[in-house]
Amino acid sequence: MMSRQDAVTGRKGSNMIEARDLWKIYRIGEIEIPAVRGVSLSIPAGQFVTIMGPSGSGKSTFMHLIGCLDRCDRGQYFLGDSEITGLSRNARAQVRNRKIGFVFQNFNLLARTTAIDNVALPLAYQGLGRRDRRRRAVEMLERLGLGDRMLHHPNQLSGGQQQRVAIARALITEPFLLLADEPTGNLDSRTGVEIMALLQKLNRETGLTIVLVTHEANIAAFTERAVTFQDGRVTSDILNENVREASASAKPFDQSYDPFGTRSH
Ligand SMILES: Nc1ncnc2c1ncn2[C@@H]1O[C@H](COP(=O)(O)OP(=O)(O)OP(=O)(O)O)[C@@H](O)[C@H]1O
Ligand SMILES: [Mg+2]
Repeated sequence: MMSRQDAVTGRKGSNMIEARDLWKIYRIGEIEIPAVRGVSLSIPAGQFVTIMGPSGSGKSTFMHLIGCLDRCDRGQYFLGDSEITGLSRNARAQVRNRKIGFVFQNFNLLARTTAIDNVALPLAYQGLGRRDRRRRAVEMLERLGLGDRMLHHPNQLSGGQQQRVAIARALITEPFLLLADEPTGNLDSRTGVEIMALLQKLNRETGLTIVLVTHEANIAAFTERAVTFQDGRVTSDILNENVREASASAKPFDQSYDPFGTRSH
């Protein structure tokens, strides 16, 4: 049987992300700020990678490029089998909606909106009817152990719960790539490890490719590879031979958590 990832790339073991000499130069008036300066990086489908590096080194800018939020000024970018370089804003938005999920440090949930409607929102852009959107949102929240928090607003949830709602929202469109920019940055260390346990599980059980930005080496230890940026360039790229098990250090928030219903009954 073909795995989910193979269905995207059409080839086993091929790259989910292939960046070739990517440049991004911000312009403010006369001033040019080269934020990403010739980054070449390949990420195989199914890999869980962290990006590290000091503040201002270009990590978020690089995430915007690979997330199709922004276009590069030079170089080439391939996502799965598709070349993204040169796509229009609209075409990039379509790729984003169908293939990529985003998670942020500040969760970015709509404040006056329940967990269920936050999670269902991306499906509205796909033209799905309200009943189907809500049904799928309920399923996803249940899978992430939030079955008893469906009608809560973000300010009625803990930080870890808000981040799980944000992850549910990111996954509702069944993306092949999850981009997370400091997802544990606003969480205490224990809750951060719980979120890492969730991401590890998703990565292993569904083959989701995950690229995660963090400042914390102990968070990177939970992933297979650490890429370090400095001054807009990759300065090191290390495979982690000894991936730490996040679930061993985290108290699971819900024993029945079962991403994508893979458990047999
Ligand atoms: N929209 C923008 N316009 C102009 N310059 C920008 C813009 N966004 C980022 N920059 C600049 O580009 C450089 C890289 O910024 P970026 O946000 O990618 O860094 P970062 O590695 O994510 O940092 P942090 O760890 O603080 O989040 C910085 O010098 C920043 O000031
Ligand atoms: Mg950043």
